[in-house]
Amino acid sequence: MSKNVLSLKSSRLTGFYKLERGGRLDVLREFSDLPVDQTRLIGQDGSLPFDLANLFIENAIGSYPLPLGIATNFKINNKDYIVPMAVEESSVLAAASNAAKVIYDSGGFKTKSLSSLMIGQIQLLDIHPSDFNQVEVLIDLNKTKLLQLADETHPRLKMRGGGARDIEVRSFPDAEIPFMVLHVLLDTQEAMGANIVNTVCERLAPEIEKITGCRVGLKILSNFADRKIFQAKCQIKSSLLAINETHLNLSGEDVAKRIVEAFVFADNDIYRATTHNKGIMNGVDPIAIATGNDWRAIEAGAHAYAAHRGRYRSLSKWSLLPNGDLEGELNIPLQLGTVGGVTRLHPMARLSLQILGNPRSDELGQIMASAGLATNLSALRALVTTGIQRGHMRMHAKNLALAAGAHGEEIEQLANLLVAEQKVSATAAEKVLIGIRERNQGTFDLESPPL
Ligand code: MEV
Repeated sequence: MSKNVLSLKSSRLTGFYKLERGGRLDVLREFSDLPVDQTRLIGQDGSLPFDLANLFIENAIGSYPLPLGIATNFKINNKDYIVPMAVEESSVLAAASNAAKVIYDSGGFKTKSLSSLMIGQIQLLDIHPSDFNQVEVLIDLNKTKLLQLADETHPRLKMRGGGARDIEVRSFPDAEIPFMVLHVLLDTQEAMGANIVNTVCERLAPEIEKITGCRVGLKILSNFADRKIFQAKCQIKSSLLAINETHLNLSGEDVAKRIVEAFVFADNDIYRATTHNKGIMNGVDPIAIATGNDWRAIEAGAHAYAAHRGRYRSLSKWSLLPNGDLEGELNIPLQLGTVGGVTRLHPMARLSLQILGNPRSDELGQIMASAGLATNLSALRALVTTGIQRGHMRMHAKNLALAAGAHGEEIEQLANLLVAEQKVSATAAEKVLIGIRERNQGTFDLESPPL
């Protein structure tokens, strides 16, 4: 194990990225108490056995591996985490780990789950708006019976402490075809709950038709999960944000102020807000994917929530504390589970949950919210100082080097040359690789790489 790694059970790992793969897996094994056969599974590079792929989807022909990495330095509610992320985009893991480091050294993330209910929608049709009130009264009178019926649909959920919590009525008298909607609110416990919610809605539908005399239309969960909100907060010592580089010197307080300006930009302009929120989802989605969660649902819910106050805004908020430190907050709906779906069937999803210490779904949501706040901070810090391209270009150059056919040490050599010459393109990569190979055979002029 590398001496650079500070302490086994601390996620504050200096130089993790410099370790070889074996060293990284050693750290992972030690940190997460993973049995050797589990880390061997990672060594098989995550390909899904075809039997499972064929079980998960129709018309399966194989599986599609993504890079799986570890974001380090996460401290959430005083507990250390290393965070598995499956993602194809370079810089995401570095962004998450770098911001988490600054936040770790400022005391870590403080998180909570603000609410934990999923919503099922049942559409009521063939009602004249003048009868809407009466339908509402009927639903109210029969609520206890309907909630009981919902719980009978999933008795085991009730036994585990979950179940139907309430039914709310919403009306759309001015729609082209006037209609009402019932919202069934359910605590789905450890499951994401799509199946549970849909089954309950379908079970209640005939009973609701009987009670109200209306015709039921759609019966389906809502992905606008505004009753399942996770909050992550952090307070960052501004001194940790300072930039001291040859061409750029900024005090931490200046960087903090600029980050607040960047937040105001996003919070007021939908064009910027969409990109800003994409930077948040850079932290959230890779954990959703690694743990086998439905990232499309999470994406849909998050962006809808960004607009819940009447216009599309920033999901996060950054402000200055009186002492000049920076405070960040993210509130985000996350439809996720730690049982059900593929979470326990997909070997890599199971492994990712193990790396996180097999969290309950509430805890997993708080980890995802923290990662979202972290990648947001990294992006803003880069954007208000050196710009985003420098870091991106390094990683991009490596990808181009690989694509051009570089192997082993050639990759690093080629990437360095491309960045140094500011010619990070596929054509340049191919040309320079030829040059490197000629040079390595003693025929290439070091001073003038053929860019
Ligand atoms: C790139 O994946 C994400 C960013 O564009 C986010 C942002 O602009 O805040 C860097």
